[in-house]
Amino acid sequence: MIDFTLAQIAEIVGGRLVDISAEQAENTRITGTVEFDSRAVTPGGLFLALPGARSDGHDFAAAAVQAGAAAVLAARPVGVPAVVVEPTPTRSGAGVLEHDTDGSGAAVLAALAKLAAAVAAELVADGLTIIGITGSSGKTSTKDLVAAVLAPLGEVVAPPGSFNNELGHPWTVLRATRSTDYLVLEMSARHRGNIAALAAIAPPSIAVVLNVGTAHLGEFGSREAIAATKGELPQAVPETGAVVLNVDDSAVAAMAELTAARVVRVSRSERADVWADAVTLDALARPRFTLHAGAGQADVALAVHGDHQVSNALCAAAVALECGASVHQVSTALAAAGPVSRHRMAVSTRDDGVTVINDAYNANPDSMRAGLKALAWMAREGGGRRRSWAVLGEMAELGDDAISEHDSIGRLAVRLDVSRLVVVGTGRTMSAMHHGAVMEGSWGAEATMVDDADAALDLLRSELQPGDVVLVKASNAAGLGALAEALVDDHRPPA
Ligand SMILES: Nc1ncnc2c1ncn2[C@@H]1O[C@H](COP(=O)(O)OP(=O)(O)O)[C@@H](O)[C@H]1O
Ligand SMILES: [Mg+2]
Repeated sequence: MIDFTLAQIAEIVGGRLVDISAEQAENTRITGTVEFDSRAVTPGGLFLALPGARSDGHDFAAAAVQAGAAAVLAARPVGVPAVVVEPTPTRSGAGVLEHDTDGSGAAVLAALAKLAAAVAAELVADGLTIIGITGSSGKTSTKDLVAAVLAPLGEVVAPPGSFNNELGHPWTVLRATRSTDYLVLEMSARHRGNIAALAAIAPPSIAVVLNVGTAHLGEFGSREAIAATKGELPQAVPETGAVVLNVDDSAVAAMAELTAARVVRVSRSERADVWADAVTLDALARPRFTLHAGAGQADVALAVHGDHQVSNALCAAAVALECGASVHQVSTALAAAGPVSRHRMAVSTRDDGVTVINDAYNANPDSMRAGLKALAWMAREGGGRRRSWAVLGEMAELGDDAISEHDSIGRLAVRLDVSRLVVVGTGRTMSAMHHGAVMEGSWGAEATMVDDADAALDLLRSELQPGDVVLVKASNAAGLGALAEALVDDHRPPA
């Protein structure tokens, strides 16, 4: 954040100063961070009062100031120094806050967006480079790789985990300071216009579009609508900027038409501006390939798992090359970039030789396929044939396609010759996954349905054998991350 005064912040967000005099507001600088969790408040910071599931942030305003916050950004007076904005009842929640009944959350988020926009504009004028990443799958993984390849070039700010919406995105923007060189932003959408709105807050000069899949298909209605929404990112980049497109995805390649910026084409299947050939996977499904860019080339050995990471790494490489890195710098940085954000293809081998792949953060049909292929590879190539287990939970938010998509994943598990499929949950979608596996030719105990994560854990504890490989994957809501962690904890590898 820039150390604006409270008076400046009131003006930027169009709010009124309450419980503080105009003169004091002129003299109060926000020198700490901007936080929505009162426990994370830092001295001299600004606390955002947002409505939550169990409590209302306004009730914690006094505690936040007690903990050192200089002031609060709120939708009503809170008894401590605050910038107060008017609730906007017609825009309750802005799509992000589920418990915004009176529009106070929407008002605070709108104010947050204005503040982040002002900070971004000033830092960009000062030389900050903003990188925006979107796509249906792989945003967080790619964001982590981009942060790693840019680190040797300067100071990088990137969000923790998956901060990518109307709250996490501006919150991340406000982490940037005058010493930040690169601000890496993950941009997600649930509706048309979401990405354009995020890009308006912090206009990227380098944008990355990874793929157009079927994540949140239920809310968008069609793949075309998803493509149009992702297309808002290349549209937002000015002609002085660069748009990195993964042209292996035809819907992404078509976005070259949408932008005035220079297009950097990335591919793993053909010669492009940045491209890969000679892709192989090691026994733990970590990709190796030759990276080509212009006349340069370098061998790359990734430290992250799964064939799908090749495209993510190529996009990260393209960003770093745009920022002035050499192919060799990129190759060295990628080799050192292991998994960062939790529960995304986190691979651990226990001391009994069982390998657990914890990919329980997120699941849609594309990432399910990517995870199953990585599992099948590890079982086949991982030094002698290993038994493979796919412990799968529900893929959320698929709308009308939910049944058929779960059915196809069940079938794919059988086609990839997964030894044991454990379907976690007994609702309609999970029954469809189990049924798909059975129809595809699975017999008897190969495909098992269990009630919940506890039952899955019991089954695995009694039947896992040394050397087995287990993929645990579902949408976050299914809660399988804890199951994967428990499995790893059963036989901690020697420290
Ligand atoms: N390029 C890709 N194509 C398909 N699946 C991917 C890709 N990159 C990552 N994944 C998988 O998608 C899931 C979500 O990854 P993540 O990086 O968190 O994406 P996002 O932030 O877009 O949700 C994980 O299971 C991950 O292994
Ligand atoms: Mg994410």
